Amino acid sequence: MRQLVVIVMLLFTYWNGKIDSSTYIGVIEHQDSLKVNAFIVLKNHCNSCHKIKRKASVFTLKNMTRYSNAINQQVFIKRRMPKGRTNRLAKTQEETLKIWLSSLKNP
Ligand code: HEC
Repeated sequence: MRQLVVIVMLLFTYWNGKIDSSTYIGVIEHQDSLKVNAFIVLKNHCNSCHKIKRKASVFTLKNMTRYSNAINQQVFIKRRMPKGRTNRLAKTQEETLKIWLSSLKNP
């Protein structure tokens, strides 16, 4: 009986348009594009050096979420990265990283 009530409630919200698959797809696509934008920054401004000096952390689409806390620490809290005076990020590139990082905290 309980299960039936839950099923009816779920169907009702589904029909009511509060939940539909396109909502989820929209959210997922949006997060993917934030991620891809962030990856472009990591690829162009971090990997060129990490490839040579820090092989352990060459960023990829696959591992970047795992590194997100470390990236936040190094780029925004400690401000150690990107290493080297000539490697500063432009404001828009910082924003791109920030928006991606906050999308992970508030999915
Ligand atoms: C010119 C070289 C250089 C650039 C550019 C650079 N890094 Fe690094 N990064 C390093 C080196 C070397 C280390 C390890 C030693 C240290 O911590 O100083 C490191 C360490 C890190 C770490 C700590 C995890 C680890 O592997 O030890 C993170 C996170 C990180 N970098 C993120 C970034 C991000 C994000 C960028 C781009 C916005 C970036 N780095 C750009 C050289 C670089």
